[in-house]
Amino acid sequence: MIKKMISQNQLVVNARRMWPYVKPFWFRAALGVFLTIPVGGLDAAVAMFMKPFMDKVMVDKQPNFSALIPFLIIGFTVVQGILQYSSNYLNTWVANKITIGVKRKLYAKLLSMDSSYMDANNSGTILYRYSNDAETASNGLVENTKKFLSKTFSSIALAGVMIYNSWQLAVIAIAVLGLFFYPIVFVRKKMKEIVKKSVVNLSSVMTIYNETFAGNKTVRSFTLEDEFSQRFHKATDTTFTLAMKMVKSTNWLSPLMHVIMSVGIGLVIGFGSHLIVSGRITSGNFVAFITALMMLYTPLKGVGNNFVAIQNSFLAIDRIFEILDLQPNLKDAKNAQELKEVKKGIFFENVHFEYVKGREVLHDINLEIPVGSTVALVGNSGGGKTTVSALIPRLYDVSQGAVKIDDTPITQLSQKSLRQKIAMVFQDNFLFSGTIRENILLGNPHATEQDMWNALRKACLEDFVKELSNGLDTEIGERGLLLSGGQKQRLAIARAFIKDAPIVILDEATSALDNKSERVVQEALDNLMKNRTVIVIAHRLSTIQNATKIAVINDGKIVEEGTHTQLLEKGGAYAALYTMQFKDKEDK
Ligand SMILES: Nc1ncnc2c1ncn2[C@@H]1O[C@H](COP(=O)(O)OP(=O)(O)OP(=O)(O)O)[C@@H](O)[C@H]1O
Ligand SMILES: [Mg+2]
Repeated sequence: MIKKMISQNQLVVNARRMWPYVKPFWFRAALGVFLTIPVGGLDAAVAMFMKPFMDKVMVDKQPNFSALIPFLIIGFTVVQGILQYSSNYLNTWVANKITIGVKRKLYAKLLSMDSSYMDANNSGTILYRYSNDAETASNGLVENTKKFLSKTFSSIALAGVMIYNSWQLAVIAIAVLGLFFYPIVFVRKKMKEIVKKSVVNLSSVMTIYNETFAGNKTVRSFTLEDEFSQRFHKATDTTFTLAMKMVKSTNWLSPLMHVIMSVGIGLVIGFGSHLIVSGRITSGNFVAFITALMMLYTPLKGVGNNFVAIQNSFLAIDRIFEILDLQPNLKDAKNAQELKEVKKGIFFENVHFEYVKGREVLHDINLEIPVGSTVALVGNSGGGKTTVSALIPRLYDVSQGAVKIDDTPITQLSQKSLRQKIAMVFQDNFLFSGTIRENILLGNPHATEQDMWNALRKACLEDFVKELSNGLDTEIGERGLLLSGGQKQRLAIARAFIKDAPIVILDEATSALDNKSERVVQEALDNLMKNRTVIVIAHRLSTIQNATKIAVINDGKIVEEGTHTQLLEKGGAYAALYTMQFKDKEDK
């Protein structure tokens, strides 16, 4: 019971929290609602009109009155039509404004969430919860508020007509009406469960679409069509089952309403005949009453479906606020400092890190990266090199210890100022749909044409771009789909070049380049590294022999540190790696 009250309260609280999104448009929203009052009231006028029609035309046979009727009917309908059009226009306008407002807020939230949140969700969930829900919520809310209000106004007016014509019959009709609302309470809880499952199901359907698109080459080359088709069938079977469950647990509302309604009408007709016969009401009263009653009950027949829509939008509002209430794990400290300059370097002090609770991937890392030096990270696959590099721009927070720039832990710096000082080339670079120019400019929106060509030259992409008929304005497709692996890599390098940041992180930057380009890019990278602090992760040890320092990371620990010569002399892990690669080369 208490739980139920709390959940009802929560509903009200969340609906109230929608107010800031409605507030800027309150005037139009109110006007739209205001216009629905006469629309509802006109229904009552038509019902009211039945009494004089019955008494004066049907019974007294007055000719003047009947001549008026066609004009009145047409007049009423035209006025009602105009009002309906204006209120629909206003309400749609307001609904769309609210949807956009909510969507923007949700998108801002999505942008503020950190990498660990993205790791934990799939694309379908993000699409569904950040995009679909906003529409369901606000369209449903506005549409149903409008319906509800206009129905309320017309109900009040119709009830007035009924009471005016016969209060006795009105008491019966309104008492029966009370029975309408009882079953509704039952359905809510059941619905909530089903909707929750539906959200999970529809999100996974979207993920399948997304993976089929993004992974289409893998699907085709591994002939996974049957597998994916089966996955899709399974997911859509669930969609079907859930839809049927929903129908099963909600659609009995409408027929039930019908039955309750017939009880009301039956009682009214029975008792009404008695009232007419005994002369307490005229037949005009009776006809006006029945007309009003029909007008009042008819919309209620559909209340079952309407109710599902209203609940859906309320549940979507709940889910929206669930998201808006999320707080990123990673936030700027209260008095976060701006990082202006790196004077001493980057320092890892007793850093422990885990992506998932209880599974530590970095154990007690101590590493100094002095300003202006080049520190290379090598080691076994899955050892933690990429993870170390991700901690520097604070894409994740350490679980113990600290990463410091100079003497300040990076948690004390504003994330924006920290990341502005770092240019990254990732292991799996992400390019965005758009042109080459747009992608480069993401590194620095103020770059000039000259800067761009410089960056392209340094990234060994100049010749390629010059040969393209559209040059810098060539579209590269979603995720850079239209480029080769090496071209993508080099475009990512150009994007990092143009950022001109004092700290550079290169994760396998040269892995997708051919031997010739590798040499050229290496030269360019050497240029880039000058006067900068560089963290470079490489599998091919030939590329990092000049590094100031090489750290070998195996299984989350730094096992060795030193220059190329020192480590070779030592004859440890690095020397073993080096001999192995050297031998591989000899074998070729
Ligand atoms: N987003 C993530 N969530 C959970 N675990 C992760 C995540 N990213 C990496 N890991 C795990 O962390 C460990 C270190 O991964 P990392 O990517 O740092 O290795 P690496 O040294 O860069 O390997 P490689 O040389 O193959 O690129 C691995 O065991 C990996 O499975
Ligand atoms: Mg890696």
